[in-house]
Amino acid sequence: MNPTRRLWWILGILFVVSFAALGFIGTEIYRQMPPVPAEVVSESGEILYTRDQIEQGRQVWQTMGGQQVGSVWGHGAYLAPDWSADWLHREALALLDRWAEESHRQSFDSLDGPAQAALQNRLETEMRANRYDAVQDRLVVSDDRAAAMALAHAHYKALFSDGESHAVLREQFAIANDAIPSEVHRDLLPAFFFWAAWAATTERPGSDITYTSNWPHEPLVGNSPTTGTAMWSIASIILLLAGIGALTWYYVATHDAGHLSQPPKDDPLLGLDPTPSQRAVAKYFYTAVALFMAQILLGAITAHYAVEGHEFYGFNLSEILPYAVTRTWHTQLGIFWIATAWLATGLYLAPAISGVEPRWQRLGVNVLFGALLVVVVGSMTGEWFAVQQRLGLDASFWIGHQGWEYVDLGRVWQIGLFAGLLIWLALMGRALWPALRKPSEHRALITILFLSTIAIGLFYGAGLTWGKHTHLSIVTYWRWWVVHLWVEGFFEVFATAAVALLFTRLGLVRARLATDAVLFATIVFLFGGILGTLHHLYFAGTPTSVIAVGAVFSALEVVPLVLIGFEAYENYRLRKAAPWVARYKWPILFFVAVAFWNLVGAGLLGFLINPPISLYYVQGLNTTAAHGHSALFGVYGLLGIGLMLFCLRGMTRDRAWNDRLLKQTFWLLNAGLFAMVFFSLLPAGIYQAYWSVSEGLWLARSPEVIHSAWMRAMVWLRVPGDIVFAAGGVTLALFILRLWWGSRRMTRRSTVLIEERASAG
Ligand code: HEM
Ligand SMILES: [Fe+2]
Repeated sequence: MNPTRRLWWILGILFVVSFAALGFIGTEIYRQMPPVPAEVVSESGEILYTRDQIEQGRQVWQTMGGQQVGSVWGHGAYLAPDWSADWLHREALALLDRWAEESHRQSFDSLDGPAQAALQNRLETEMRANRYDAVQDRLVVSDDRAAAMALAHAHYKALFSDGESHAVLREQFAIANDAIPSEVHRDLLPAFFFWAAWAATTERPGSDITYTSNWPHEPLVGNSPTTGTAMWSIASIILLLAGIGALTWYYVATHDAGHLSQPPKDDPLLGLDPTPSQRAVAKYFYTAVALFMAQILLGAITAHYAVEGHEFYGFNLSEILPYAVTRTWHTQLGIFWIATAWLATGLYLAPAISGVEPRWQRLGVNVLFGALLVVVVGSMTGEWFAVQQRLGLDASFWIGHQGWEYVDLGRVWQIGLFAGLLIWLALMGRALWPALRKPSEHRALITILFLSTIAIGLFYGAGLTWGKHTHLSIVTYWRWWVVHLWVEGFFEVFATAAVALLFTRLGLVRARLATDAVLFATIVFLFGGILGTLHHLYFAGTPTSVIAVGAVFSALEVVPLVLIGFEAYENYRLRKAAPWVARYKWPILFFVAVAFWNLVGAGLLGFLINPPISLYYVQGLNTTAAHGHSALFGVYGLLGIGLMLFCLRGMTRDRAWNDRLLKQTFWLLNAGLFAMVFFSLLPAGIYQAYWSVSEGLWLARSPEVIHSAWMRAMVWLRVPGDIVFAAGGVTLALFILRLWWGSRRMTRRSTVLIEERASAG
C-alpha cells in the first residue's frame, strides 16, 4: 500500500474506534450519573424539595446567565462562588454549629481540637452516607441536616433579592440587585444548588468516593483526591514524555528538506481576479473585525466588574448591562468573530482552489451573511432579555439564555446557527466539488480540508441533543462534544490543512509531501483529541473511567504541540523564500505566532490544568482563564486574523495595504496577550490554587480571596496589558478601514474606466 493510502486507512479506523469509545463512555456516564430524587424529605416526613423544584431551580439559574454567574461543578464564571462548593461549605458549617450548640452550648469555632475533630467525624459520616432509595426514588435527610439546609436556602434567597443584608456580597459577586425579582423563582433556585452539592458530597453506592470523585476539595466532609485521580495523573505525565520521544524519533527519521519546492518567480496568485462571490466575502472580514472590537470593549467592562461590582468608573452600568450580560456577550462574540473569519476564509478559498465559480454562489454568500447577522443580533438580544428576567423559564430556553458557557444562545438561535453552518457546508461543497473530482496533486489536501469543514458543520449539531431538563452530567458531556471537539480536534485539522494549502498554492511547499504531513498531523491530533474530550468531565458526576481515559488521551494532545517548533521554523523561513513572498510577510508571521501560542497557551497552560490531580484543585480558578485566553485567542484568534489577511491580500491592490499598521497590530496583540496572561491571569490563578489546595475550593472562590489585596492588584495589573491589546485591535481596525476605503476608491475608478472604454469603443 502506498504511504498516503495507509495514512488514510489509519485515520479512518482511528476515527471509528475513538468515537465508538467516546459513545460507549457516554452510556456509562448515563448509567452512573447522580440521581435526581423525586422527593427530598426530612426524617420527620417534611418534603424539602421535589424533582420539579430542582429542575426548575436549575432553569432559574440558567435564565440569569447560568454558567456566566458563578459555576456549578467547577464549570462557569469565576467571580461569584462555585455554588456547589459554596452550598456544601455552608451546609457543613451550619450543621457543625448546630451540633456544637446542642452538645457544648458553644459555636463550633470556639470548641477545642478534640471536640471539633469528633464533630467533624460525625459530619463526614452524616454527609457522605448515601440515603437515596432508588426503589422509592426518595432521598431522606436527618432533621438536623434539614435545619442546616434551611439556613443555606435562606441565604441564597436573600442573595438574589434586593435586601440590604446581602448588598455587600452582591457587589462583591457582581450580581445585580434584585437579579431574580420573582419570589417564586428565588425559592426554586437553591433547590438546584442543594442537589449539585449533595452529589458532590455523597458516596456512590458501594464505593467510598462521591459522585463527583470527591470534587470539590473540602476537608470538612473528607473530600480529597481519589486514588484514581492521583494515579492517572502520573500515568498521563509518563505517557506524554513517551509520546514526545516517539514523535521526535519520527521527525528525525522522516525529515528531509525536500518538501520545500523551488519557489516560482512571481506570485502565482497575483494575476487572479477575485470572482463575484469572493468579493462578496470581504464584508465578512470587516464584520469580524467590528465584532472583535466589541468583544474587547465588553472584556474590559467584565474585568472591571471585579473591582466595582455594579459600576463602571462610578457609572451604575449594572442596571443596563450587568456582569452576566457583558461576560456572555464577551465569550460569545469571541466565538462569533473567529467563526466569521474562518467561514469567510473557506468561502474565499473554495473557488480559488477549484478555479470554478458556481452559479448563484455570490447570492449564497450574501444570504449566509444575512443569516449570521440575524443569529448574532437575535441571540444577543435574547440573552439580554433573559438576564433581565423578562422571559419565562421556557421562553428563555428557546430564545433567551441557555446558561451553558460557549453555547449560551437560545435554542432557536442555536438552530439558526446550525442551519447557517449547513449552508456554509453546501457553499463550500459546490465550489470545491470540481477540484475534489479532478485527480491532481492537491486533491488529498483539499479532501482533508473539506472533511474538516463537514466535521465543523455537523458537530455543532451535538449542541442540539439536550433539552430543558436533561441531566447536568449529560448536558456537560454533549456541550464538550461541541466545544472541545471543535477547538482541539477539527479546528486544528482545518487550520493545518488550510495553511498547508495556502503554501502549496503559493508554490512554496510541495503538495504531495504536504499531504502526508497534514494527514499525519490529523491522525496525531485526533488520536489525543477525540477521547481527550473527557478531560472536561473528570468531576462532572462521572465514573473513574472518565478520569483514566480523559487524562491519558488528553496528555497525548500536547505531544504535537510541544514539537510545533519544527513547523513554525519552516514557516518562518518561507517568508524569505522569494522576493515576492514579502507581500505575505505578515500573514505568515501571524501563522508563526499561532504556533507559539499553540505551544504556550494550548500546550503548556493546557497541560498545567490537565492532569486530574491538578484540575481537582484548580477547576474554576483563574488558571483556566489564563489557558482559555492564550489558547482561544492566541491560537484561533490569531489564525483567524492571519487567514483573513491572506485572503484580503488577494483582493486588494498594494497601495491600500499598509504593512506598518500590520506590524504594529502583530506586536501589540501578542505583547498585550502575553502581559494579560503572565502578569495577571496566571499569578491570580496560582494564588487561588494555593488556597484551594491548602483549605478548599470554597475559599479560593470566596470574597476573602477574590477581593484580597493580591487579587485586586492582579486585576489592576491587567489594565496595562489590556490597553496594549486593545491598541492592537484599533490598529487592525485602522488597517481594515484603509483597505475598505482603498477598495471603494478602486471600484469607483474602475467603473469610470469601464465607462470610458465603453464610450470610446
Ligand atoms: C487551541 C487549542 C485549545 C483551545 C482553543 C482551548 C480552549 C479552552 C477553553 C475556551 C476552555 C474553557 C475556559 C473556561 O471555561 O473559561 C478550556 C478549558 C480547558 N482546556 Fe483547553 N483549549 C485548547 C487546548 C487544550 C489542550 C491541548 C489541553 C490539554 C491537553 C487543554 C486542557 C483544558 C482543560 C483541562 C480545561 C479545563 C476543563 C474544565 O474546566 O472543564 N486545552 N480550553
Ligand atoms: Fe479540551
